[in-house]
Amino acid sequence: MASYSELTILRLTIAFAAAALLAGGAEAQCLHTCGGIDIPYPFGVGSGDDCALPGYEIVCNNSRPFYVDVEVLSISLQLGQMRVMTPISSSCYNTTSRKMDSNRWGFNLTTAPFMLSDSNKFTVVGCRSLAYISDPMSNYTSGCASSCPGDTVVSATNGTCSGIGCCQTTIPRGLEYYEVSFGESLNTSEIYNHTPCSYAVLMDYSNFTFSTSYLASPLKFNTTYGGEAPVMLDWAIFWGAPDCVEAQKNLTSYACKSDHSVCLNYSSGDQLAYMCNCNKGYQGNPYLQGSNGCQDINECEHPESYSCYGECRNKDGGFDCFCQAGTRGNASIPGGCQKNFLTPKAQVAIGTTRPAMALVAEELRRLALADEVQRYPQPPLVLEELSFVDMGSTMSIWYDESKTSGVYSLENKAVLSTEFAR
Ligand SMILES: *[C@@H]1O[C@H](CO)[C@@H](O)[C@H](O)[C@H]1NC(C)=O
Ligand SMILES: *[C@@H]1O[C@H](CO)[C@@H](O)[C@H](O)[C@H]1NC(C)=O
Ligand SMILES: *[C@@H]1O[C@H](CO)[C@@H](O)[C@H](O)[C@H]1NC(C)=O
Ligand SMILES: *[C@@H]1O[C@H](CO)[C@@H](O)[C@H](O)[C@H]1NC(C)=O
Ligand SMILES: *[C@@H]1O[C@H](CO)[C@@H](O)[C@H](O)[C@H]1NC(C)=O
Ligand SMILES: *[C@@H]1O[C@H](CO)[C@@H](O)[C@H](O)[C@H]1NC(C)=O
Ligand SMILES: *[C@@H]1O[C@H](CO)[C@@H](O)[C@H](O)[C@H]1NC(C)=O
Ligand SMILES: *[C@@H]1O[C@H](CO)[C@@H](O)[C@H](O)[C@H]1NC(C)=O
Ligand SMILES: *[C@@H]1O[C@H](CO)[C@@H](O)[C@H](O)[C@H]1NC(C)=O
Ligand SMILES: *[C@@H]1O[C@H](CO)[C@@H](O)[C@H](O)[C@H]1NC(C)=O
Ligand SMILES: *[C@@H]1O[C@H](CO)[C@@H](O)[C@H](O)[C@H]1NC(C)=O
Repeated sequence: MASYSELTILRLTIAFAAAALLAGGAEAQCLHTCGGIDIPYPFGVGSGDDCALPGYEIVCNNSRPFYVDVEVLSISLQLGQMRVMTPISSSCYNTTSRKMDSNRWGFNLTTAPFMLSDSNKFTVVGCRSLAYISDPMSNYTSGCASSCPGDTVVSATNGTCSGIGCCQTTIPRGLEYYEVSFGESLNTSEIYNHTPCSYAVLMDYSNFTFSTSYLASPLKFNTTYGGEAPVMLDWAIFWGAPDCVEAQKNLTSYACKSDHSVCLNYSSGDQLAYMCNCNKGYQGNPYLQGSNGCQDINECEHPESYSCYGECRNKDGGFDCFCQAGTRGNASIPGGCQKNFLTPKAQVAIGTTRPAMALVAEELRRLALADEVQRYPQPPLVLEELSFVDMGSTMSIWYDESKTSGVYSLENKAVLSTEFAR
């Protein structure tokens, strides 16, 4: 009683053909956006010589970007990821033939610079479903079964995918090929009037939340996703070198072109490659030179991400955050800058009588140990060294000037001690 079953493998071979197609006649041009989706280099749309690295060409059709046959949803340079649409496989009971009809899909990425990300999960939806994901070349097979107790959907729960109406399983790192198949031991011939189909797809885990409605209405899972679900692919630079050290030996082919880029080794399964990122404090495209490459982030213009509660000054690859004149402390924390009691104005307020040096030294030691002082971001106070400092001269200069009194609040002492510790 063999069921009808069709398997289609989407083959993401290097897109030389697509590039050649466009090159015929048309003026060389290059786009890095399609339908509002960014296509950053090493990806590119068009025929220019330097438009895209070989194997990273994207075709823009009716304002929708495609890599060979699959639609591209987004490309991330920083994470080295690309989200594409992948068809949902199905197995449905055919009341005419009284057999299970299945449409099965797979992905062949073996000659593309991509890999199936392990953030995907093999997801199966149905009430009598058993589906397999396999890669015959690496002898990999895994599967997932889901059922609905009593063949009713009432026991299924929204948001929970753990075997009742829905099942998910992880995949190993480094997978470059998969195909879906349905097990013959479970079929929907007895429940076809309310749940005729089983579905299976490898998809981006974050995009999926199980709803019992996927089971209740016939074909609802398929129609909710329009027959396709997003899958996450990892990409890296697979050409020329297996790691950063080797890649840097040939600066012509080395892909991290920006001055402020950093190379990262990439490994997934037995695949070795490298990828580029911008250095800390820089943003942009590490695969490009000059002004299109990694640029300094002006952190001071983004206080929501780089907090500074004092005076912010941008610098190459970072920023400084100072307490405003007349205050001191840690400007990176709210309320971290405190009034500096050693400014002339503050010093006058302290009073007129100079305290005994011995008393000050004693207080400094005590305060250095107290929590009070720890709030201030100063170098650690080395107590042993205190006794070797010529306290008489250093201290007397500013005590003489300020004509201080013996009235010291705890706060003043803390400021004093940290000032002294500098
Ligand atoms: C563009 O998409 C249409 C359908 O939307 C398809 O018929 C056509 O073959 C595609 N063209 C190319 C060059 O892929
Ligand atoms: C069911 O099977 C019959 C005979 O094989 C076929 O003609 C028909 O298209 C199938 N129906 C569906 C909905 O696939
Ligand atoms: C469905 O499964 C039942 C047993 O559970 C079996 O008797 C029947 O032949 C199967 N039908 C198909 C179309 O595979
Ligand atoms: C995947 O595609 C490559 C290149 O087209 C081919 O050599 C290989 O046999 C395919 N893998 C499978 C399992 O079909
Ligand atoms: C897969 O299994 C076959 C038979 O057991 C074996 O000959 C082959 O080496 C295996 N391939 C891999 C990649 O492990
Ligand atoms: C699950 O959510 C759908 C709507 O998303 C709703 O129609 C259904 O009744 C909910 N199921 C349960 C068991 O609450
Ligand atoms: C799944 O991804 C599609 C396409 O990016 C998006 O439109 C949809 O809102 C996402 N759904 C969830 C639940 O994340
Ligand atoms: C799933 O949806 C797609 C697109 O709408 C359609 O082509 C396909 O036939 C549907 N599959 C099933 C089993 O309904
Ligand atoms: C460096 O890479 C370029 C471009 O891929 C290539 O033409 C050249 O032969 C390489 N040089 C060496 C020394 O391998
Ligand atoms: C990359 O891998 C190579 C070879 O294993 C190693 O020597 C090198 O230190 C690694 N570089 C980085 C940046 O991790
Ligand atoms: C300032 O406070 C921040 C946040 O608590 C901390 O990370 C940082 O190390 C402090 N700076 C100094 C110089 O102590």
